[in-house]
Amino acid sequence: MRRLTEEERWTYKKRALAGYEAGSTAYDGLYLEEQERKYRRSLAYLHQRAGGLLLDCGCGTGMLLAQMLGRSGVLVGVDYSKAMLGLARRRVGTAANVGLICGDAECLPFRSGVFDQVVSFTMLGNVPDLPAAIQEMARVGRDSAQILLSFVKKNIEPDEVLRFLNEESLSLKEFIDDIDLSDWIVIGEKKTRT
Ligand SMILES: C[S@@+](CC[C@H](N)C(=O)[O-])C[C@H]1O[C@@H](n2cnc3c(N)ncnc32)[C@H](O)[C@@H]1O
Repeated sequence: MRRLTEEERWTYKKRALAGYEAGSTAYDGLYLEEQERKYRRSLAYLHQRAGGLLLDCGCGTGMLLAQMLGRSGVLVGVDYSKAMLGLARRRVGTAANVGLICGDAECLPFRSGVFDQVVSFTMLGNVPDLPAAIQEMARVGRDSAQILLSFVKKNIEPDEVLRFLNEESLSLKEFIDDIDLSDWIVIGEKKTRT
C-alpha cells in the first residue's frame, strides 16, 4: 500500500467526511443489524475489562456505546462527523457516563496513556494513513490497554492487518474471522514499555 502525500491525505479525508455527513441519516437503517453482529461477537472481550475508561474511535451514531451503557466506567466516543455525532448524542448523550467529542482519529484530542480500552469498529478502512491511525489509538491507551479494532474484509487482507499491528507496538490476543461478519476483528493489547 503506497503512503499518500499530505495533500492526497487531506483530499481523501475530506471526501470520506463528506460521505459520512451526507449518509448519516440513512446509516442506522442500512447498518444497524450488521454492526450489532460484530458487537455481539466482541462484547464478552470488552466486558472483561469493564470499569475503566473506554474510547470508541469513529463512534458514528453511537450504536456500540448504547450497547454498553449499563456497564461501569466511563465511555468516550469520538468522531469527526458532526452529523454522525449529533445522532450519537440523541442516542446516548444524556447518559451520565458517556462523553462525545468531535475529533480526528489520526490526531486524537487526548493525552497519551489514559484509556484502559480503545475500540474502533469499521472505521479504519476509511482513513488515509492506516498505520498512523493505529499508532494514534495505541498512543492514547495506557500500557497493556485492550485495543479492539475491526477492518472491513473487502478493504484489507489479514496479513496486512497483522503486519500493521506488529509495526505499531500491539500484541495480538485474538483474530476473529467469522464467516457471518463483514469485518475481521482483532483483539490486541498495547505492549508495555520496558
Ligand atoms: C462505518 S462508520 C462506523 C461507525 C461505528 N463505529 C459503528 O460501529 O457503526 C465509520 C465512522 O468513522 C468516522 N470516521 C472516519 N474517519 C474518521 C477519522 N479520521 N476521525 C474520526 N472519525 C472518523 C465516520 O464519521 C463514521 O462515523
